[in-house]
Amino acid sequence: MGVVRIGVLGGGGILGSHASAYAKIRDRCEVVAVAEPDVTRHDRVKALLGANVRLYADYRDVIDLADVDAVDIVLPHYLHLPATLCAAEARKAVLVEKVMARNVRECDQMIDACEKAGVSLTVCHDRRYDSKWIALKEVVDSGVLGEIFYWKLEHNQNVVFPEGSWVRSREGLGGGAIMSCLTHQIDSLRWYGGEFARVSCMTRVIPDRMEGETVGVIIGKMRSGALAQLSINWFTRSNGARPNDLWYELVHVCGTKGEAYFMSSRGTFVMLHDASDGAAVSRYGREALDGFVEVPSGSWTGHERCIAEWVKSLRGEPSQVITSGRDVRGTVEVAEAAYRSAQCGREIELPIDPVSGD
Ligand SMILES: NC(=O)c1ccc[n+]([C@@H]2O[C@H](COP(=O)([O-])OP(=O)(O)OC[C@H]3O[C@@H](n4cnc5c(N)ncnc54)[C@H](O)[C@@H]3O)[C@@H](O)[C@H]2O)c1
Repeated sequence: MGVVRIGVLGGGGILGSHASAYAKIRDRCEVVAVAEPDVTRHDRVKALLGANVRLYADYRDVIDLADVDAVDIVLPHYLHLPATLCAAEARKAVLVEKVMARNVRECDQMIDACEKAGVSLTVCHDRRYDSKWIALKEVVDSGVLGEIFYWKLEHNQNVVFPEGSWVRSREGLGGGAIMSCLTHQIDSLRWYGGEFARVSCMTRVIPDRMEGETVGVIIGKMRSGALAQLSINWFTRSNGARPNDLWYELVHVCGTKGEAYFMSSRGTFVMLHDASDGAAVSRYGREALDGFVEVPSGSWTGHERCIAEWVKSLRGEPSQVITSGRDVRGTVEVAEAAYRSAQCGREIELPIDPVSGD
């Protein structure tokens, strides 16, 4: 394949991050069409992607275009499944924004349809491609932290949507803040630390914000034996907008020989608890024995790198796509298990049986 011709389905908020990613790889791909029914958003779409991009009212119109090779789904969550099924039927490769779908059953239908059609299904879980999150992955994988026994991951935002928005609807979103955005943390933890063995969860709904939970806390036990604490707070205003605010996202990992963290707006840091690993001391410096030191990283955003790797894979070039539908299905499964725990007040073991659609 030469220049990949892409159709983007949805022209809303996250299009900005996708558009800047496409701009970085103009020699490899071109966004030829966008589906966006809200005409008040069309000027912004053209400003982001160029005046020549063709606009259509519905995702089906773009999937059917003969000059679209692959589609990038940036639609509300309740449309991820039908748009993927439609793309598979038209034999178009799919990139779908997180969260992959509203539940495991929908994920399985998407995987099945794409595999039967012989097209790839990639999920844009951008954190796995972000240079600073990768820097933490390299620290963890190097073994310098010893045996890892504790993870803490947080997501803090002030999320307020107007009446009528799909984000306020449990049905539209697939739940609440956990399914929508704590899946960033669940997915990252699966990538960093392996699979979950069991979870328990509590949620708090704030009815004037949305039907689903605005706050959620998951306690997990990993198959490795490590404990994990994941929380999302969609009510806080202290999410890193000003210098003295708290962080937007935090990942803290603690092992027998050291600890490390990623904090948004700050970077990735490591501390060694002793000098027994000479190679680690020379890699991070003796200062790492006295406190946290910054780990150098690249400057790619997750969206830029995810989209670049996806386009390379479509062109048959060597690529590092690490978020296929099959890779990511387990992320939705952990969120769904957490909801079952919140509902019944017990721990839930993974894997779970997908809810039957019958
Ligand atoms: N990775 C991240 O950090 C991040 C951040 C924000 C959103 N997202 C994800 O991106 C996706 C989209 O979120 P958003 O914030 O851009 O939502 P949004 O509501 O701003 O945009 C969705 C767009 O889809 C359009 N749409 C609705 N029905 C359509 C149809 N039939 N055909 C074509 N377009 C249609 C809407 O008019 C809207 O403009 C979601 O999966 C969301 O979770 C990811």
